[in-house]
This record gives sequence, C-alpha cells and structure tokens, in this order.
Amino acid sequence: MSVQLWTGCSVATMQAAAGTPYGWVEDAAIAVEGDRIAWIGPRDQMPGLLRKGCEQEHDCRGALVTPGLIDCHTHLVYGGDRAHEFELRLGGASYEDISRAGGGIASTVKATRAASEAELAAQSLPRLRALMGEGVTTIEIKSGYGLALDHEAKALRVARSFAREQAVDVRTTFLGAHALPPEYAGRADEYIDDVLRMLPALHQQGLVDAVDAFCERIAFSTAQTERVFKAAKALGLPVKLHAEQLSDSGGARLAARYGALSCDHLEWLGEEGAAAMARAGSVAVLLPGAFYFLRDTRVPPIDLLRKLGVPMAVSTDCNPGSSPCTSPLLMLNMACTLFRLTPEEALAGVTRHAAQALGLKDRGVLAKGMRADFVLWDVREPAQLAYAMGFNPHRQTVFGGRPR
Ligand code: NIG
Ligand code: FE
Repeated sequence: MSVQLWTGCSVATMQAAAGTPYGWVEDAAIAVEGDRIAWIGPRDQMPGLLRKGCEQEHDCRGALVTPGLIDCHTHLVYGGDRAHEFELRLGGASYEDISRAGGGIASTVKATRAASEAELAAQSLPRLRALMGEGVTTIEIKSGYGLALDHEAKALRVARSFAREQAVDVRTTFLGAHALPPEYAGRADEYIDDVLRMLPALHQQGLVDAVDAFCERIAFSTAQTERVFKAAKALGLPVKLHAEQLSDSGGARLAARYGALSCDHLEWLGEEGAAAMARAGSVAVLLPGAFYFLRDTRVPPIDLLRKLGVPMAVSTDCNPGSSPCTSPLLMLNMACTLFRLTPEEALAGVTRHAAQALGLKDRGVLAKGMRADFVLWDVREPAQLAYAMGFNPHRQTVFGGRPR
C-alpha cells in the first residue's frame, strides 16, 4: 500500500450526510491511494495502518480544502468572439434582436466552422486554463457552434483532446439543436432531421456523453426538442435542456418526462415545471453569468426549487454570447448576490450538485472511495470563496491524487 497523506488543513467535504455545514472537518487528514481517497476525517482519528503505509506527507499549512470544482455547463470550444455584439447591445439592441438579425449564435457558428481543429483548440485552451486556475477538475463541454456533422465532430474532438492533454476530466455533450444554421433558414424540421443523422454518427465515434437542446422561441420548439430526446433515449444517452431562459416554453416539463439529468437557466420556470423536475430528480443548473451579462431581471424561482428539494448546481455557461466567463469563483459570488443562494448552496452548486448534473457518482464530495480531486485554497472559511470578487485564492489542485 502506498499512501499519500495530506494534513494541516480544514476540509469542506460537502458531504450532505455529515450533518455539519459544508461537511466541515477541522484539522483533517486526507489519505490518498492511487486516484482515490482511502480515508478522510479528523487527523487524530486516522487509522495507524494508513500512517504506516504513508509514502509522502504533504503539509497543507492551514489551507482550506474543497472538492475539485465541477463546471457542469459550458460552451467552451468556439471560434472568435462577440465583443462587437456586446457593443451593439450597449447601443440598445437586445440578445433576441441580434439573434433574429443573423448575429448571435450564427456569428459564432461562422467563426467556428472557419477554424481548423488545431486553431479551435488553440483558441479554446486559454479559457480552459483559466477555469483550471480556479480549481476546476471536471468540465462539461457542449458542441453547438458547428451545426453540421464535420464541424460538430471537430469541436467534440477538441473537447475530448483536452482530457488527454491537460490534467482535467471532460464530459462532452452534443448540442446540435442549439440554433438553426443559415443553410436551413426557414426549415427547422429538416434541420432536426439532420441532427438525428448526426447524433448516432457522433455517438459511434465515441464523442457523446449526453444530449442537450435549446428549447426557446428563438431556437427549437418542444416538439422538435422531443424528437432529439427520443433519439438520445434510443441510444441510451442521458438528456439535459436549455429550458425557460427567455420564456416559459414548457421545456422543463418535457425534459423531466425524459428523466433529464438537468434543466439549465430556468429564469421563467413555473410551478409545474419545477414540480416535474422534482419528481424526475433533475438538477436545476443556475447560470448567473448569463443572467448578469444579458441584464436579465427575472430571477429563477429559487425558493420554489428549495421548497421542492430540487438540487441546484451553479456553472459558468462559458460561451461567447451570453456569458463570456471563465471564473467559477465569480459565479459563486453572483449566485449569492443575484440569486440569493447561501455560500454553502453555491459551493454545493459547483461540487456535489454539479456532479449530479453530469450523472457522476464518484466525485463532487470528499469521502472514502471518491476520486481524489481536491483544491487547496488560501482562505480560512468557505464563505470567503463566494464573498470575494475577482480575487483568486487558489493555491494548488490535486487531480486524481496527483498535484497538478
Ligand atoms: O447558454 N442559450 C443558448 N446558448 C447559450 C448562448 C449561446 C450564445 O449566445 O452563443 C447560453 O446562454
Ligand atoms: Fe448554455
């Protein structure tokens, strides 16, 4: 047995069952064997056998330790940027105006299609590095800016390549039904036919962990979304949905019927949709960066979600149009400030509940048998992670048992 020991820290294990806020353990020890946690708890209760098997002891010098952060909703792989549209919006145009005028997602599609695979990776990597610099150890990356088989495959391959080349785990989501590509203008149902051809081909190439769609009046109807969900289910792939971002379109209810892992955005979520999510066990993924950047005024129904026991995750939504954000820490702050989450709920949102939103049972909390993905922070208490704006107290990340 070769054990790595991490001591001299306080740990926010984020275990709900711990019965303490944040699953708090003072003066803790974390014993790591391979890429797993072999034991975690108060240092003075650690079994003697583990200390004997200890190969190396790391003194955390008073750091706060949390689970590695999980960014469960991103569109990180894209070409170009939309700074010009930002200027247009400042001049009075709305996100929907720009989208209807052929800008918005369509302009990113153009830039993404024009980029080679290597260029797309080079443009996207700095964003990933920024997220990793704030302790992200698992990230979900969606396609949805290629909107044609070869370009969707290219983006998903870039996303997958990051898991091989960087010390980070990547889950990929096919979001073919993100927007109508220009060549299908006025023919949305025919484009969905194409999405249904792309999905099995991409799945066969091993590029798809889950399937998402954008169900909205500027994107796809519930009927079109349902066709995509049926195809996903036929392949045994889990679904999730961009739902009720700009209007109550009934997306959450539909997604719940398909046992969605998550429904995301949810500013316009109503009682029925929330109740359906609760019954289905779907996670509510809150995206305060998009809410802020689009200057939305309608807050997702947080009290209702709490009352119904719907788990809430928090994510960057990293994308060029509605949330050009690479800071999970800023999202903690915004989840608290804009959505009134408690700092503990916000931290659960980028750990335990984010893991659940991705269907991952081996991470998101620090406990025996879980992946040894954790972060050392130069703060005393977890609320400081949500409290500061634009300050990064990250000291070190351990990924799969190894310092990164
Ligand atoms: O999550 N809602 C749709 N998709 C993205 C925005 C994409 C874009 O504007 O490029 C989102 O907000
Ligand atoms: Fe999104």
